[in-house]
Amino acid sequence: MNVAQAVALNRLLPPEIVAMRAADLAQVVALEAAVQDFPWRERNFTDSLAAGHHAWILRHGAACLGFSILMYVIDEAHLLNIAIAPGAQGQGLGARLLRHAMREAARDGMGKLFLEVRPSNLRALQIYRAFGFRQIGLRKAYYPATEGREDALVFCANLEHGKE
Ligand SMILES: CC(C)(COP(=O)(O)OP(=O)(O)OC[C@H]1O[C@@H](n2cnc3c(N)ncnc32)[C@H](O)[C@@H]1OP(=O)(O)O)[C@@H](O)C(=O)NCCC(=O)NCCS
Repeated sequence: MNVAQAVALNRLLPPEIVAMRAADLAQVVALEAAVQDFPWRERNFTDSLAAGHHAWILRHGAACLGFSILMYVIDEAHLLNIAIAPGAQGQGLGARLLRHAMREAARDGMGKLFLEVRPSNLRALQIYRAFGFRQIGLRKAYYPATEGREDALVFCANLEHGKE
């Protein structure tokens, strides 16, 4: 197979979800900076990996199209971060990553998945609600914002073992 064929084949293959490694961090940090006004810095990602959090990337050939990071606390999982590259959003990839994270957490015996989200993040709110998340709390002035601070909505979903 020549390079052109490999590239063409690569385009046809769906992106795969693989464990995040230190070698992925440059792409992950750049992706995060492209989608967040107040992004995690490289240090946040290295600390997260060092702490043993469960992290994946959505890989398409050499490109990283998205990532997700879960933290487990006893029998509860927390979605610390999830993002899809700007040019790859709105194609179902965020849903794929979220479904994968929920399945992994359920498989690892977690009963619930918690997350925080900005009330202004309508796209994220929509996907979370579609996946069965419901608001269970509010953290006042949790996030930095362009003007002052923004609340966080705390969402939770029950993880159905053997399903999501
Ligand atoms: C939130 C995010 C991960 C979603 O990923 P995505 O790949 O764009 O989402 P998907 O294409 O899988 O869409 C999943 C669902 O989200 C909703 N959605 C997608 N695009 C939307 C839009 N433009 N407006 C509103 N809702 C939208 C829909 O419910 C959609 O389901 P459907 O279109 O099949 O009915 C992505 O937009 C992102 O990276 N945002 C920036 C980082 C971020 O906000 N992370 C979450 C922090 S809590």
